[in-house]
Amino acid sequence: MKVAVVGATGMVGEVMLKVLAERNFPITELLLVASERSIGKKLSYQGVEHTIIGLSEAVRSQADIAIFSAGGDTSLEWAPKFAEVGTTVIDNSSAWRMDPSKKLVVPEINADLLTADDKIIANPNCSTIQLVMALAPLHKKYQMKRVVISTYQSVSGTGVKAVKQLENEMAGIQGEMAYPYPISRNALPHCDVFLENGYTKEEMKLAREPQKILDDRTFSVSATAVRIPTAGGHSESVNVEFHTDFELNEVRRILNETTGVTVQDNPDTNTYPMPIYAHDKDEVFVGRIRRDETQRNTLNMWVVSDNLRKGAATNAVQIAEYLVENALV
Ligand SMILES: NC(=O)c1ccc[n+]([C@@H]2O[C@H](COP(=O)([O-])OP(=O)(O)OC[C@H]3O[C@@H](n4cnc5c(N)ncnc54)[C@H](OP(=O)(O)O)[C@@H]3O)[C@@H](O)[C@H]2O)c1
Repeated sequence: MKVAVVGATGMVGEVMLKVLAERNFPITELLLVASERSIGKKLSYQGVEHTIIGLSEAVRSQADIAIFSAGGDTSLEWAPKFAEVGTTVIDNSSAWRMDPSKKLVVPEINADLLTADDKIIANPNCSTIQLVMALAPLHKKYQMKRVVISTYQSVSGTGVKAVKQLENEMAGIQGEMAYPYPISRNALPHCDVFLENGYTKEEMKLAREPQKILDDRTFSVSATAVRIPTAGGHSESVNVEFHTDFELNEVRRILNETTGVTVQDNPDTNTYPMPIYAHDKDEVFVGRIRRDETQRNTLNMWVVSDNLRKGAATNAVQIAEYLVENALV
């Protein structure tokens, strides 16, 4: 496969290259693409140095697959240009996710929707991916009615500039700010931009994307997204009301049997998921599984995953693998 990685110099791009190499994705030619600022710089992949190229040159190269992690504006403008020359785009931005003509894919859940005609495929939001990985098998069994979620999201979810802000603050250095306030020793109830309804864009992604991925609009999601000073890994407190009742042991069994999900849940040994241990792993970790004692058929749980891996790079590479395995590119 001739593969283009767009946004190769970014937070997601760096992990994308690592995941492609780890999984031995069948690359015959690799194009590393970034903004005008980075053209000519060098990056290495599997020990071989590559020169960063611009988007126009990458389009002309007619890659089989282009994995975009370069922001929504770049995707809106450039993904159609890649698609026009026959390249299949897997896009990590929010640009195409809610477009009814584009598929929003978490491979374990709905990769079977993909066809060779899908030239722009959307990767869901990082917080959404780990949420639906835990909810999908439970929804199938007990049918969700309503989900209330609060997120505790790492600075790596905002990109290179935010990680630098946290590092600077921890070292006592005055530098460029990615957030309107300090993030070190703080919690910002503000991820992405505010919308007219008072929610942030991140919160509305969490409300809408799960319905599209699970192809079901009969349940609702209410979200509060919070940025905290962790370096990598998003955590989520999830309260889910089902139509039917459940047994906690069966919930644990279902989650344990779900590919890509690992249950870490034992209060006796202080066992529960944490971002420092989810770092650099592909699984979605679930713990603190307990009944909400204030309402019927309602469950509480804590869901943690590496936002740069399953939340972005791993999910995108899994989509690419599915396309190759099923001869869709
Ligand atoms: N971070 C996460 O956890 C996460 C998870 C899921 C999805 N995403 C999405 O992935 C995308 C990248 O996020 P990130 O965290 O990796 O951001 P980042 O660290 O700021 O990196 C941005 C990347 O995009 C490139 N870029 C920016 N403007 C460009 C342009 N006009 N043309 C070509 N390339 C351009 C940058 O190249 P230069 O180095 O040349 O500026 C850099 O490689 C965003 O759409 C984000 O929403 C992020």
